Amino acid sequence: MSKLNGKVAVVTGGNSGIGYASAAELKSQGASVVITGRNSEKVQAAAEELGVTGIVADVSDLSAIDSLVEQIKGEFGTVDILFVNAGIFQPAPVSQISEEMFDHQMGINFKGAVFTIEKFLSILKDGASIINLSSVNAYTGMPNTAVYAASKAALNSYTRTAATELAPRKIRVNAVNPGPVYTPIFGKTGMSEEQMNGFAEAMQNRIPLKRFGQPEDISKLVAFLASDDASFITGAEYNIDGGINVNPLVA
Ligand SMILES: NC(=O)c1ccc[n+]([C@@H]2O[C@H](COP(=O)([O-])OP(=O)(O)OC[C@H]3O[C@@H](n4cnc5c(N)ncnc54)[C@H](OP(=O)(O)O)[C@@H]3O)[C@@H](O)[C@H]2O)c1
Repeated sequence: MSKLNGKVAVVTGGNSGIGYASAAELKSQGASVVITGRNSEKVQAAAEELGVTGIVADVSDLSAIDSLVEQIKGEFGTVDILFVNAGIFQPAPVSQISEEMFDHQMGINFKGAVFTIEKFLSILKDGASIINLSSVNAYTGMPNTAVYAASKAALNSYTRTAATELAPRKIRVNAVNPGPVYTPIFGKTGMSEEQMNGFAEAMQNRIPLKRFGQPEDISKLVAFLASDDASFITGAEYNIDGGINVNPLVA
């Protein structure tokens, strides 16, 4: 398939998980892809595996995003697809939320997303597609996720307003809300193997389709929203969660 032939795509946080799978899918559909990440070794290794361009840029550092934009402008000129995917998950109960944890999580998941878009606007083509990676956590009230969930709820709200304001340039802005997806994100929380297994089992039982998502499940939706097949879709949110958002009272 070559629906994205001739398009330039940028995937933030593309060295791992959903970003990595999406970079592979966008490339397989014909796009020239740039992945970013905060760790030089991981970014270079992933870029080599994928056969794409890798650039180190921490989304919580606004000057790093400026340099990223300059580099991409020099190499590619303009961008057609911006997948705002970089994010972290730091669970904590409501009574134990520190200022540092709040700033870190909001700084990457929300502020990082907003300023990625802000700074890319100058090199985004008219008619470009922006896809914001949010989460069903924005709506689920899951314990220990208050700040994470709020960072994603803020991103969904931002998505709707940005879609309105960027419509005159025919730039589409949409959000994708995955349910639980098998990626390294959970291993970065400090949870023990046993805690993670317990969490995974409890989650799986709650999902009507009885499985976690795979990064490839999400990448297909991202590639669709990136393509001209989605040219009438903006300001929308897509749950992709095995049905967990249905929340049946009786299963
Ligand atoms: N997995 C799920 O169940 C799930 C569900 C809903 C939503 N999401 C969202 O999906 C997105 C991707 O997560 P994932 O599950 O694929 O996790 P992942 O495998 O940990 O990937 C996250 C990526 O973002 C990068 N990143 C983190 N902080 C960054 C920063 N400050 N600057 C640049 N890059 C940064 C990570 O780099 P490092 O490799 O250096 O950490 C990694 O490449 C996140 O926004 C997450 O909130 C995930």
